[in-house]
Amino acid sequence: MEQDPVLESLQNDENSTKMLSLVSHKLKTPLSIINGYSEAILSQSSKEKFSPFTAKALEEINKQGTKLCNLVDKLLFFNKVEALQPKDLAKKSINLKNLLKTSASDAISHDEETATVSAGSTISKKGTFIEIDCPSALEIKADEELMGFLLEELLSNAIKFNNKAEKTIKVQCAHHGDSISISVRDYGTGIRPQDVNKIFERFYQVDDYFTGQIDGWGLGLPMVKKILDLHGGSISVISDRGLGSIFTVSIPVA
Ligand SMILES: Nc1ncnc2c1ncn2[C@@H]1O[C@H](COP(=O)(O)OP(=O)(O)OP(=O)(O)O)[C@@H](O)[C@H]1O
Ligand SMILES: [Mg+2]
Repeated sequence: MEQDPVLESLQNDENSTKMLSLVSHKLKTPLSIINGYSEAILSQSSKEKFSPFTAKALEEINKQGTKLCNLVDKLLFFNKVEALQPKDLAKKSINLKNLLKTSASDAISHDEETATVSAGSTISKKGTFIEIDCPSALEIKADEELMGFLLEELLSNAIKFNNKAEKTIKVQCAHHGDSISISVRDYGTGIRPQDVNKIFERFYQVDDYFTGQIDGWGLGLPMVKKILDLHGGSISVISDRGLGSIFTVSIPVA
């Protein structure tokens, strides 16, 4: 596939990174005001009688405004992560199973609907099940915010790029010598071999499974890669179209 020139300049040009940061900061304030007001009006809906059309329009304004806010937040977080150096990490000992449970709940609740149920090591919501197989005592030395984001991103992708009615995601952790591996397996759309390396490039989205209407920027995996570089870790992918994917992260114990 030929590279889009706009995409190429966004991926390579340092000025475009600065420009993205400026644009996202400028968007943040008006967006917060729009969302704040739409939420305030919606909270009045029990007292005031809105017509069905007005009620629907308000809900849609609020939903799309929140979506836009999340997009801007991701762009801002991307800019922050891009600028980080290893000395900036707040490394500490973290219990991996607990971190996985939190990331799984967050990934699942960001997936449009709300109720999340946690039963032992399976986090589930209406047809989405995340099974976690991780020794209870396993600890990693990492920056908790960044590592939590990394796990949530892999799990969100496993949920998002999967159009099955029932989605099962399996997480397996193991300790091998001086490193810890975490693999996230899904049985979703999968990725063609020619796209597997490109998905770590900024703004790259393989969008022909759907109609070009994928949520997000194509920035999650580039951030995952950067976070792993900062921690001295690595990532590998085994995937095939129609069969699903396994993303395996390896991080040093110390
Ligand atoms: N588990 C997966 N199964 C199938 N395709 C995937 C999976 N994870 C990532 N991809 C493909 O790789 C692309 C890049 O992933 P990435 O997480 O960087 O971006 P995104 O999820 O589209 O957007 P963002 O993370 O910015 O919200 C995705 O658009 C998708 O095409
Ligand atoms: Mg993503």
